[in-house]
Amino acid sequence: MIPDAVFQQTLLGFLAPVARFLDDESVSEVMINGPDEIFIERGGKIEETDARFPSEHALESAVRNIAQFVGRVIDVDRPILDARLPDGSRVCAIMAPASRRGMTVSIRRFPKNRLTVEQLMKYGSLSENSKMFLESCVLVKRNIVVAGGTGSGKTSMLNALSSFIPSDERIVIIEDSSEVQLQQPHAVYLESRPPNAKGQGAVTIRDLLRATLRLRPDRIVVGECRGGEALDLIQAMTSGHGGSLSTVHATYPHDTLHRLETLCLMSEVELPLSALRGQIASAVNIIVQTSRMNDGSRKITHIAETTGLSEGGQYELQILYEWKQTGSDSKTGKVKGVLGWTGKRPTFFDEVVSKDLPIPPEMRAK
Ligand SMILES: Nc1ncnc2c1ncn2[C@@H]1O[C@H](COP(=O)(O)OP(=O)(O)O)[C@@H](O)[C@H]1O
Ligand SMILES: [Mg+2]
Repeated sequence: MIPDAVFQQTLLGFLAPVARFLDDESVSEVMINGPDEIFIERGGKIEETDARFPSEHALESAVRNIAQFVGRVIDVDRPILDARLPDGSRVCAIMAPASRRGMTVSIRRFPKNRLTVEQLMKYGSLSENSKMFLESCVLVKRNIVVAGGTGSGKTSMLNALSSFIPSDERIVIIEDSSEVQLQQPHAVYLESRPPNAKGQGAVTIRDLLRATLRLRPDRIVVGECRGGEALDLIQAMTSGHGGSLSTVHATYPHDTLHRLETLCLMSEVELPLSALRGQIASAVNIIVQTSRMNDGSRKITHIAETTGLSEGGQYELQILYEWKQTGSDSKTGKVKGVLGWTGKRPTFFDEVVSKDLPIPPEMRAK
């Protein structure tokens, strides 16, 4: 076996023109739109770079070499490569003619150090009080879905929230590509896999989720729900696996529930919509909505609790915390505002009190 470090060096060799970015902790993404147009994301902002590949041919060879190294193929019949490098970084490449301008590559660097709750607070993504509240939500085993757009900080938030899980619990983490990294000692990491060149050997999130139920998990963390696995997760959440966590791509708390519904319908399990809604409403207890602001910062915009279904079969939510923007700094452009309590208490407030868990002072006082 080739040691990972050597492997990584070889891969960096293929990607020599952008190797300096792949070595740079402050860079989160390298985006190659053909040989002459290379952007990076740093601190949430996209910058164009002067890096270049010598030619389209050189870029294509680099991607083919990477594919070969990780045991995959990219060619006219299989023009999309989604591969993980030994250091956890993820490479997605799409070749012509599927990509109009030729080889397009995006490399998501795997952060060696995940953002902690303290760092997220320092960045203003959540407040001291909302942190206390979320900690209690995790401790009383509410199911939590973190929702937001691409790059809004969902995975980072999921990772941070997972740090509240008590260290004596057995946690199973299921992902498409490893991003979540926990401090707890008893964590099992599972990763899905696309089919090989012969179309065999695929392991889906659903396969892993079903197998996980037999692994005696105390908590299930699903990195991201993007398809039919949403139904399996919802069913796990309502059948004794409270305290599960996941992320979903959606913009507002209500959308999040509707998005989950759509994903569940992708599962090919026939279920009347009213029954499905009932399950989603009782499965998802807390929605943490994240957003990428104009200044590149990521914030929690809402913390909402699902309270059930209305008589008409619509989801009912109560917003517990909400971000209110008060302005922006005229010099730096930084947005200003607060993630404030709305005055509503969660339905499980008494449980939080009786267990003597962290309670934001504002909630206690009233
Ligand atoms: N609260 C935050 N403040 C600053 N940067 C953040 C914050 N949350 C995430 N990031 C950075 O933004 C990028 C995308 O975050 P990620 O959690 O992967 O988003 P998503 O899962 O929504 O796509 C990463 O580089 C991450 O380090
Ligand atoms: Mg993510």
